[in-house]
Amino acid sequence: MGDAKHVHVIGTGTIGEPLIGLLADFREQLGINVVSFHKRTPLTTEVAKVRSMMDRGALLCTDEAAIPKFEDQGLKVSWETEEAIDRADVVIDCTPSGVGHENKNKYYERFTHNTKGFIAQGSEFGFGKMYARGINDEALDPKEDKFVHVVSCNTHNISVLLKSLGFPNNNPENLLEAKFVMMRRASDTSQDGDFLPAPKVGKHDDPRFGTHHARDAWHIFQTLGYDLNLYSSAVKLNTQYMHALWFNMRLKEKITLPQVMQRLKDNRRIATTEKTSANQIYSFGRDHGHYGRILSQTVVPVKSLSVVGDNEIVGFAFTPQDGNPLLSTVAVACWYLDPNDISARLDCLKPYLFHEI
Ligand SMILES: NC(=O)c1ccc[n+]([C@@H]2O[C@H](COP(=O)([O-])OP(=O)(O)OC[C@H]3O[C@@H](n4cnc5c(N)ncnc54)[C@H](OP(=O)(O)O)[C@@H]3O)[C@@H](O)[C@H]2O)c1
Repeated sequence: MGDAKHVHVIGTGTIGEPLIGLLADFREQLGINVVSFHKRTPLTTEVAKVRSMMDRGALLCTDEAAIPKFEDQGLKVSWETEEAIDRADVVIDCTPSGVGHENKNKYYERFTHNTKGFIAQGSEFGFGKMYARGINDEALDPKEDKFVHVVSCNTHNISVLLKSLGFPNNNPENLLEAKFVMMRRASDTSQDGDFLPAPKVGKHDDPRFGTHHARDAWHIFQTLGYDLNLYSSAVKLNTQYMHALWFNMRLKEKITLPQVMQRLKDNRRIATTEKTSANQIYSFGRDHGHYGRILSQTVVPVKSLSVVGDNEIVGFAFTPQDGNPLLSTVAVACWYLDPNDISARLDCLKPYLFHEI
């Protein structure tokens, strides 16, 4: 380990780029001295992106063989891959599905003696303890959890809805059953591929949970000892804007619509909105978010809410897909650096945690 309080991000894609920007812009308030990032491929199309991150104060790292190519592009490389990991206190893996596990085997396991912790993103099931800010903070154990898996954007959304509407008083037995239909955007706005001409439904390949969405949510609450009755279905839509989900929760207790509204208002990680289209909500994020991202865990259009009978809540919610894992990731990085007083350090991100959109 070299510099004090050094956070290193691997991957500069949809999640990596705004994360590096957030860490670099707020490093003083977050208590971080050095932010570095690993970019694998020296693409001429991405020189501007790399330069922008470096202008914010983040240091470029890459593999030994790629150093001369980045230098030819006029970009100064600070450390090669292993040296950067060795120097860092916290390493955040933002690579695509499966690469985080490969990196764990190839690099991270060798640096556990001097690195405080390693964090991976949504697709890396099994990387480490599953985590979402405000959902299972009490499950994190500084002695055990060298590896943390920040759950996916949709798992954040499902989890915060379950926690705030289904069992706001940490009484999971109040939730009899919850069902979700995940309506997913075909691709990220930055992606040219994966165009979808029409909605495409998914398989129910998990006999208990339907799709992995309910299963992932079950697993994160399992870290608290809860055994929830969850089921999900998925459909991909021909949009690049936002994921949406439909939910249905059947509770043991009776509930009214005003009480549902109050529960949503009581959770500061939930945004409510009078808007009903992903288009308008996404556009709000572009105008008022950091790198166009809002950090709220879900956006609930209040006009979509209904109570069926006296104990069943139905509604829709939108997922700030590449925003909500950012806050959880920064929170774990701060926790690794110093587990005390994280909330005070995260206060600088409050302007992007909207309660109303
Ligand atoms: N996209 C979302 O909205 C979203 C939301 C929540 C969570 N996540 C999760 O975040 C993670 C990353 O997703 P993403 O959408 O940000 O990915 P992405 O946009 O495809 O970016 C992947 C990045 O990883 C780098 N990379 C790929 N293979 C690498 C390797 N072997 N070594 C080092 N770097 C490598 C690429 O670098 P080069 O281009 O330089 O080669 C690229 O910068 C996934 O676990 C995903 O599930 C994504």
